[in-house]
Amino acid sequence: MEPVKIKEGVYWVGAVDWGLRNFHGYSTSRGSTYNAYLIIDEKITLIDTVKERFFDEMTERISKIIDPSKIDIIVSQHVEMDHSGSLPRLMELCPGAEIYASPNGVRGLKAHYRKAWPFKEAKGGDTLSMGERSLRFLLTPMVHWPDNMVSFCPEEKILFSNDSFGQHIASSERFDDSYPFDTVMEEAAKYYANIVLPYSPQVRKELEAASGLDVAVIAPSHGLVFRSKVKNIIGAYQEWAGNKTKKKAVIVYDTMWKSTEKMAVSLASAFESKAYGFKMMSLGENHISDIMTEFLDAEILCVGSPTLNNNMLPTTASFLTYLKGLSPGGRKALAFGSYGWGGQSVSLMEKELEAAGLSLMEGFKVNYVPDEAQLKNIKEDLEKRI
Ligand code: FEO
Repeated sequence: MEPVKIKEGVYWVGAVDWGLRNFHGYSTSRGSTYNAYLIIDEKITLIDTVKERFFDEMTERISKIIDPSKIDIIVSQHVEMDHSGSLPRLMELCPGAEIYASPNGVRGLKAHYRKAWPFKEAKGGDTLSMGERSLRFLLTPMVHWPDNMVSFCPEEKILFSNDSFGQHIASSERFDDSYPFDTVMEEAAKYYANIVLPYSPQVRKELEAASGLDVAVIAPSHGLVFRSKVKNIIGAYQEWAGNKTKKKAVIVYDTMWKSTEKMAVSLASAFESKAYGFKMMSLGENHISDIMTEFLDAEILCVGSPTLNNNMLPTTASFLTYLKGLSPGGRKALAFGSYGWGGQSVSLMEKELEAAGLSLMEGFKVNYVPDEAQLKNIKEDLEKRI
């Protein structure tokens, strides 16, 4: 296990989680990394750690550069245990190390680990000197927890951005220019849609604060380090945080006997005939986190479910629950579905869509199996409204 030089005296010493496939409900089909960074200066500084079970991998990398007991400072930018989980074992190796965290971070670390470690509160704008280099702390609450902060090293022009700008990608490569960049951006978009999206107002503040910094490298806590395409990822974050959408719809549905699916096809035909971008995503075949990624730049969400036992299908309910937690609002939604007798699914879905902050368009209900005329009506009706 080797460290990777980011700049002279600055190393990636994290861990690669090749097998990660689920990050609390988010499907991570490419695995992930937990990025920790070691800075060799008068004060030896480690920025973040790794998930507890990867502690040995991290310390093996650190040991190739320096004895871990020599670490003077640990900057804990985020309490979530994928980044702080190795602190207890690390502090046994370097018990005198000072732990810098935001005020919420100090509170969170104490509540997680119940240890009287030498904590130092890092306030927004504070600068920590490591010797020749320094770290300026910017607090970024709610990107992704209340404790998050990022650190900027002006001498090296590196922004250690923690969860921001991350991507869940396990790889042997460490930099944006040594991995297919389309995949980096695809995973960055998925990460934004499934983790960062509810906090877009806070991201806008972070981008504003970062705009005054001379950033040459963005070193996030997951995935590849940006050194060649910093502008691309910042530009993408500006779009996503700005809630920019395009003429695009996502049609999400589940079906029992294909009636709701036929209705989904009619909606798709309407979007197609009006040259509106769209994507059909059956809940039986698509993960809800991939659906959220498609919704990131879409203007309209159509959600379909037949009525089952006076309710909607559980797959649809699960998606709507997930959506409610992440929804950016400022977009439109339409519910549709077939029914036999009760017919409650459409109104129940509409309630959830409204609760997710979406503006409702009039939806569609069909009794049992839609005939050609009904399918044509759905298409023509929607065409008039888009
Ligand atoms: Fe990668 Fe919010 O932790």
